[in-house]
Amino acid sequence: MTDIGIAVRNGREELARGMRALSGTLQHPETAYHLPIAFALTGIAVHDADGAREAYGKAGSHPLVASECLRAARIAVQGPEPSPYTGFVPDTVIRKLGYSLVDGSILGLALLTGTPDSPDAAAAIARELQEKYMLTFLAGSVVPVLQKAGVKVGLDYRLVPLGSTPDAGVHFADILTRVAMMFGGVAPGDAGRLVAYAKERARAFVVVFPGLSETEVALTDSLRDLGIPILAAGGYGGGDWIAVAAGQAVTRGMELRQIRVKVTAIPIPMACSPAFEGKSIRKEEMHVEFGGGRSPAFELLRMKPAAEVKDGLVRVIGPEIGEMQPGTAVPLGILVDVAGARMRKDFEPVLERRIHNFVNYGEGSWHVAQRNLIWVRLSRDAIARGLRMEHLGKLIQAKFRIDFPDLLDAVQVTLLTDREKVLAAEKEAEAVYAERDQRVLGMKDEDVDTFYSCILCQTFAPNHVCIITPQRPALCGAISWLDGKIACEIAPAGANQPVARGRVIDALRGEFEGVNEFVRKASHGEVSRCALYGIMEYPMTCCGCFECVAAVLPDVNGFMVVNREYTGDTPMGMTFSTLAGTIGGGAQTPGFAGISKGYILSERFLQAEGGSRRLVWMPRILREELGDRLRARLAAIGIPDLFDQIADEETAPTLEQLVEFLARVGHPAPGMSPLV
Ligand code: SF4
Ligand code: NI
Repeated sequence: MTDIGIAVRNGREELARGMRALSGTLQHPETAYHLPIAFALTGIAVHDADGAREAYGKAGSHPLVASECLRAARIAVQGPEPSPYTGFVPDTVIRKLGYSLVDGSILGLALLTGTPDSPDAAAAIARELQEKYMLTFLAGSVVPVLQKAGVKVGLDYRLVPLGSTPDAGVHFADILTRVAMMFGGVAPGDAGRLVAYAKERARAFVVVFPGLSETEVALTDSLRDLGIPILAAGGYGGGDWIAVAAGQAVTRGMELRQIRVKVTAIPIPMACSPAFEGKSIRKEEMHVEFGGGRSPAFELLRMKPAAEVKDGLVRVIGPEIGEMQPGTAVPLGILVDVAGARMRKDFEPVLERRIHNFVNYGEGSWHVAQRNLIWVRLSRDAIARGLRMEHLGKLIQAKFRIDFPDLLDAVQVTLLTDREKVLAAEKEAEAVYAERDQRVLGMKDEDVDTFYSCILCQTFAPNHVCIITPQRPALCGAISWLDGKIACEIAPAGANQPVARGRVIDALRGEFEGVNEFVRKASHGEVSRCALYGIMEYPMTCCGCFECVAAVLPDVNGFMVVNREYTGDTPMGMTFSTLAGTIGGGAQTPGFAGISKGYILSERFLQAEGGSRRLVWMPRILREELGDRLRARLAAIGIPDLFDQIADEETAPTLEQLVEFLARVGHPAPGMSPLV
């Protein structure tokens, strides 16, 4: 039995010794928050050992700061741990998780650390956390123990293996501090606010198994400063940890932080949680399948007048499970009819995409793709426990009602399994898809008078405002105009607000009175003009999350676009991360724009300066990813050959080679008017 009081004292001393001996550079990849705990507590951006010691001193020798610095130093020397360990979790992932915390698909965060005595008990805890909508992090031997017990780990399963040793648990704290800075408005260096925010808002707890070293005990114990209760499932005595039986740990932790599972249990014989979303059902595990090129299958969600939708109605038209030959592919039509006073036709495709998530929430149901390309499998296990088609329908019906309480007043689901009926209904569905494509493809900025804003990134780029239009998706690639519109409907006081376009100031540049006004206010007066379609004058501000950077290359009168995934050099002599560091932070930088991949394909792509005709260079992976869509776009504006005239890192690694390459292939840009 480890005495916590003694271990904490010795552990703190050892951490202090470690800090005195610390050397080298310290940094984490893909974050705007440096070493986040040190940054949040002290405001000091730690890059090396001296900075680390300064922060450690300023933070009152806090074990979290020491553990963060010592671990960063160790990883700098040894390199990151191999898969499945995630190590430090990048900001982009946290931002997505943040959304899930806000919309309730994640209820809270848990950390499991140490070495469980009983693999089965640990597996039961992990499973209970999954079923209760928690996101769980794992540090130390608990990872292999769970794996041996047959538990799958990974972000997809909401069991995130941070590292092979318990000191990786410090990432749990760096995630919490970043959530506080990103979503809680906590300013770096305001330790008081951070602690107050964490104590009040952080829905988090820790379950500790035996076997922690003294420094690990000190690290874990100091999480209490953030209001996080520590529940010890055996092995520890004394101190302020709460001893629990393993079977009680989750219930107790959730009670202590008042995390209430408001998940209404859906009365079907199958467990159902976002935790199952990432699973797969292999051929050997499946009972029957639908679609995937093996049988006709499709899904369609439509808005109907209230009188035509009977809330809660679920029908199966055609054979039920018992009449299906195991191991075969069966036809399937999933028809979801919805009604609601606030529902709009525009929302149909966005809601329809949720069928994919919902079916995957089922422990024994699996879904890929969309529309008439879907592929669905039901597992043999689930069928053995009594799952029927009807239950799949109930799952979809209930999830729509639970997840969109304000938007939808009534939802009914019809599952077709009769071949003739599926084929007939699929024809109708195809007509609806075609009409939608027309509408969305054809949706132009001038067809709407409202754009949407996003200020989610203001926590680290305080004056940054994204303006999202039908033809200019958000620079992070995560939010389309439709998403913004729906987000507004669902959470009217949230980060996405409607922006009335107002009078046109310059149509080519995309400058509008309403947008300028909004941006001025939302940027706290820092930015007074914003051109949506240009790069030279008043370009949109950049936070740090853009998928790509577009930059002017004056020597060739063109633009290069470089994407985040590409780590090599560009003809500008700068890598993506150097460029990103130069233009991020919420400033306007003429000649540079943070953009999404989708915007490259837009008719409005930097049209103020001549658009795609100026596209002279992009990394090969990006050109391949855009592939046919970019070809089609270029063909549509009468320059089908341009695709092959765009240089990349192999054909033109340097500016000189780029000049030569463009001349050789006859690229139009060098002959266009000078950009600068
Ligand atoms: Fe919102 Fe823009 Fe940040 Fe994306 S990049 S999360 S749209 S502020
Ligand atoms: Ni951002």
